[in-house]
Amino acid sequence: MATPFRLDGKIALVTGGASGIGEATCRVLTDAGASVLILDIDRARAEALAGELPRASAVICDITDEAQVRQTFASIPTLDILINNAGIGLVGSIEETSREDFERIMRVNVEGPFLVTKYALPQLLASRGSIVFIGSVAGLIGVKRRFAYCASKGAIVAMARQLTVDYPTQLRVNCICPGTVHTPFVEAYLEKYHKNEKDKVREELNRRQPIGRMGRPEEVAYLALYLCSSEAEFATGSVVTIDGGWTAA
Ligand SMILES: NC(=O)c1ccc[n+]([C@@H]2O[C@H](COP(=O)([O-])OP(=O)(O)OC[C@H]3O[C@@H](n4cnc5c(N)ncnc54)[C@H](O)[C@@H]3O)[C@@H](O)[C@H]2O)c1
Repeated sequence: MATPFRLDGKIALVTGGASGIGEATCRVLTDAGASVLILDIDRARAEALAGELPRASAVICDITDEAQVRQTFASIPTLDILINNAGIGLVGSIEETSREDFERIMRVNVEGPFLVTKYALPQLLASRGSIVFIGSVAGLIGVKRRFAYCASKGAIVAMARQLTVDYPTQLRVNCICPGTVHTPFVEAYLEKYHKNEKDKVREELNRRQPIGRMGRPEEVAYLALYLCSSEAEFATGSVVTIDGGWTAA
């Protein structure tokens, strides 16, 4: 039997590939034999990771800038796998959320994946490719004081399902909804909102998952590997939680 979950000869692009879940996904996909384009706004981190991994290169692009996204995909002739991962967070109830903040979250978390998917589509259709969105449990259930973030991740779940019905045989489209995953995203949140009580709040974040800990970025990355491998040919339109039991409660 051939080794499963191999991506030899495949070309993958990971948005937000320089940090956290995106970085782990770049590592796992190159381990599986893929060539990986690490798309990020953070040039230093993207180039450092590209230097470390085999068959990897950095693509510096802001996913909210249509001209940059168009230009980026015009210079990528073939693409088999798109991981729509880049995203940002925001804490606040509706009363605490300004219109400016709401628009910023929607621009990065919703318009960004829209633009990237739109301009990557010709290459993905040509290869009968696979798209994996990184949503969140916040797109499925309400999370306290995450009004704009929940709205943006709900849109990601809907976007993945909608693409599935427009391209049922031409593409595979799936969405991963992680619970809290210990990445720089979480540490930045602790630094910004809980500077003087980081350990206490980190412990609360652990307990949010019934399993008693946060996820590890590579645990999400291996699910992304499964979904874009040929072993997952029957999986399209799937919205898969990986959350230590959070949404089962
Ligand atoms: N960490 C968690 O607990 C968690 C849980 C569920 C879902 N998610 C989602 O997973 C994804 C990755 O999160 P993470 O925790 O790895 O975050 P992270 O902050 O560690 O990494 C995000 C990366 O995206 C890049 N990025 C941000 N804006 C960009 C833009 N406009 N253009 C290009 N690149 C941009 C950043 O430079 C960074 O490298 C996000 O969509 C997030 O919402 C995270």
